[in-house]
Amino acid sequence: MNKTYITTAIPYVNGVPHIGHAMDYCLADVFARYHRLLGDEVRLQAGVDEHGNKIYQKSEELGLSVEDYVNGNTKKFKDFIAKLNISYTDFIRTTDSDHQRRCQEIWRRLADHIYKAKYEGWYCSGCERFITQKECDENGGICPDHQKPYEELEEENYYFRISDFKDRIREAIESEEMLILPEFRKKEMLKLLEDSPDVSISRSVEHLTWGVPVPGDETQVMYVWMDALSNYITVLGYPDEDIKDWWPAAAQFVGKDILRFHAIIWPAILLGLGLPLPRVILSHGFVLSNGQKMSKSIGNVVDPVEVIDKYGLNAFRYYFLRHIDTFVDSDFTWEKFESAYNNELANDLGNLVQRLATMAKKNGIKLEKQPTFEFDNKYKELMDKFEFSKAFDFVWEKVQSLNKRIDDEKPWILAKNGEKEKLEECLNGIIDDLLNTNYMLSPFIPDTTEKIFEVFDGEINPPSTPLFPKN
Ligand code: MSP
Repeated sequence: MNKTYITTAIPYVNGVPHIGHAMDYCLADVFARYHRLLGDEVRLQAGVDEHGNKIYQKSEELGLSVEDYVNGNTKKFKDFIAKLNISYTDFIRTTDSDHQRRCQEIWRRLADHIYKAKYEGWYCSGCERFITQKECDENGGICPDHQKPYEELEEENYYFRISDFKDRIREAIESEEMLILPEFRKKEMLKLLEDSPDVSISRSVEHLTWGVPVPGDETQVMYVWMDALSNYITVLGYPDEDIKDWWPAAAQFVGKDILRFHAIIWPAILLGLGLPLPRVILSHGFVLSNGQKMSKSIGNVVDPVEVIDKYGLNAFRYYFLRHIDTFVDSDFTWEKFESAYNNELANDLGNLVQRLATMAKKNGIKLEKQPTFEFDNKYKELMDKFEFSKAFDFVWEKVQSLNKRIDDEKPWILAKNGEKEKLEECLNGIIDDLLNTNYMLSPFIPDTTEKIFEVFDGEINPPSTPLFPKN
């Protein structure tokens, strides 16, 4: 059996889960479910990033102990992942003692590439990133993403010698040994790699104590990204356990803002440990609202929990996976969502199932055979290329063509004329195609497709309430 390992970015727990966080989870979940249908044994990791300045500062502001603060928020993220019906198999908290101990061992194993030096420069705790003088000048000293002045730092740190691995990383990206998707991001990363200096990978405890202690040096804790990136292998048990059945990952899902860490520091860590590089790093776009970044001050934040509570999880997943493009920024607005809900889910799919099942039941139609499920070549090709929103479009065209087929073949006329055999053949043919289409929909909207399979499972029983009730 093929073993497939898939990862998601672990969010900082400095707030409640927001709609953008759903992106990594949903995309990785589709890929995981698709691979299970292909017969693979799949491990899907999820988790939370609990260290760093940003979280520590937030807990202080709230007057809470940092431990209580992360415990409370981590629970909210876990609940959110469950609410999205993400089929994860492993959950990691970066405060887990196993994770911390394993990170320290990873540090020891990288010792040949680590040196001590003085850091004098800028830091953005919103980005949790060291900022070069050039970048600071370009942005006039203020982080464009967080609208906060960069902090000035002067401290003795440990550095990771990225330069030891640059050639190897470039070669891996160019040869697609480590495929970066989409293509335009791959080009960005190759450019960034050229200009990448060695990175500081620790913080002095004078400035930050909330992190994994650097082994053998009480005055330093690890830079949050060293600790966070390692999660992808510590969760598998590395280095205590042999991870070769699962590593390298088949695909790692991350947002465009954090691709740089995954395309440069992460492969350098893996190469330093003598481990293979992930096969694919997929960088998705951002969820926007009316073309703008969602922000509390603009007042355009869409709460995913509100959407799910009002319309159901599968309506949320539908919109998210079809109308939010896999690779580029896309809008989530109530208006667009509601139009997709009514015109597509309720009209195209909900009505199709209702219509077909009601007609079949009324005319005493029996299903001739169990359908044989298979993927259309085009669907498989798109899924294998991670073009999920396009694959979803492709399956939706099938849903629409089934509605058209009913209109064209007019089974109600066959029923009216008493042409039982023809009617049976016609409905059986359409139901068979519907179930195969349903199969291809199942990685995207698994609860809905399960209900549809139940409707046509032996006895045909039309849904007692519409699959997508109109509001
Ligand atoms: N803790 C780091 C990730 C460490 S992975 C080893 C982090 N956390 S985050 O909470 O800021 O972001 C978590 C994920 O959510 C990232 O993949 C990020 O790109 C994604 N998103 C955050 N806001 C987003 C949108 N508005 N839209 C889509 N995804 C976005 O970075």
